[in-house]
Amino acid sequence: MPEGKFHGKRIVLGVTGSIAAYKAVSLVRTLVREGGDVSVVMTDSATRFVAPLTFEVLSQHPVARDLFSNHEVMPHLTLSESADLFLIAPATANTLTKCALGLADDLLSTMVLTARCPLIVAPAMDGGMWDHPTVVEHTRVLRNRGVIVLDPEEGPLASGHHGVGRFPEEEKILGAMISVLLRRCDWAGHRVLVSAGPTREPIDAVRFISNPSSGKMGYALARAAADRGAEVVLVSGPTGLPKPAGVDFVSVVTAEDMHQALAAKFSWATMLVMAAAVGDFRPRYPSRDKIKKKTWTGEPVEVEETIDILKALSPQRTHQLMVGFAAETSNLVENGKEKLEQKDLDLVVINSVAGPQSAFGDDTNEVILLTRNGEITCLDRMPKRALADRILDKVQTLTARVRQDIGRPSVQARSV
Ligand SMILES: Cc1cc2nc3c(=O)[nH]c(=O)nc-3n(C[C@H](O)[C@H](O)[C@H](O)COP(=O)(O)O)c2cc1C
Repeated sequence: MPEGKFHGKRIVLGVTGSIAAYKAVSLVRTLVREGGDVSVVMTDSATRFVAPLTFEVLSQHPVARDLFSNHEVMPHLTLSESADLFLIAPATANTLTKCALGLADDLLSTMVLTARCPLIVAPAMDGGMWDHPTVVEHTRVLRNRGVIVLDPEEGPLASGHHGVGRFPEEEKILGAMISVLLRRCDWAGHRVLVSAGPTREPIDAVRFISNPSSGKMGYALARAAADRGAEVVLVSGPTGLPKPAGVDFVSVVTAEDMHQALAAKFSWATMLVMAAAVGDFRPRYPSRDKIKKKTWTGEPVEVEETIDILKALSPQRTHQLMVGFAAETSNLVENGKEKLEQKDLDLVVINSVAGPQSAFGDDTNEVILLTRNGEITCLDRMPKRALADRILDKVQTLTARVRQDIGRPSVQARSV
């Protein structure tokens, strides 16, 4: 018998109190038919819509409902820790919001916090709920965190109104699950060195030259590579962001600190992603003490160029793929191409930092990817975490191509 699409995969399916809960019954049948080992967790409200027995018969597993179960001491850990994929379908507005806030007041929401596998959320709710600012905001929070929140469909709703809020089509849910499972380990064996955030170049003990980089893009890339199985070291300038889970973290301040930290790890890495906004200039004579206002003569601060980290690391390159970022205000492609050539990069990610749509600080971005062989890919505006996956997908096509290029010594030396 041929193996199904979900053969050998442990799937936790959370079912919540939506009128669409009955559609999860068909979903469980499909997943089991496709070889999945499905364990269903229901909220109390969900049990008002579908009897747990239905899921127990179809999944051949008891339905988990109670955090304080008499049968198991830690039910929230047993299931979620061993899962390959966590799917909440249908997800109510209540459960979606709880996931974003990290609330853990029942078994399902507690398991979301203990799970270490990818999470997919398939919302189903009335149009007014889906449009509500709270739901919009918490959907955005989840997406930025790397959770895949599927868009609900438009059409007739249970309320009798027409709108956006219908449970996504089963095919769409299965498609998302397959792509997540395929991606899950596709970066295993890679060692990815990522730089992120701004640098600070001191003028005196309290003042510095810096830029508005938030670090969000670099952090998203580090997290995406780790989620996809890579070993990751993140070298970060000062940001207000929490350290991403599953990533080795090195904190730096100046461009020179960042250079030292990256150089120390460069030979270990199979890929360097230079997403940091490294300052180009630094004060030539920084003062150890705070310069008193009254002692400042009004002369401009004399600056000198900081080290060009990519240029400095390039000659030490043995097998590393190098990805750079270009922050441009005009002539995006031409300027990006120049950077790619000058710094001998395999891929450059070009973002516009001009005007209100500037990439700096925002949770979303739209970029142009330019490869060494001149391939140009324009990516529409999307959350930086989703963008991180698209960038890694593109790099994968490069590594695959490099692998096939056996026989050309310069290229062979770069295979990952
Ligand atoms: C008939 C009925 C249908 C409902 N359908 C939905 C729905 O589709 N989506 C939703 O977000 N809430 C829906 N609700 C409200 C939820 O059941 C309610 O917010 C509940 O607290 C959700 O709990 P849970 O997230 O723990 O399952 C419905 C309520 C009723 C009575």
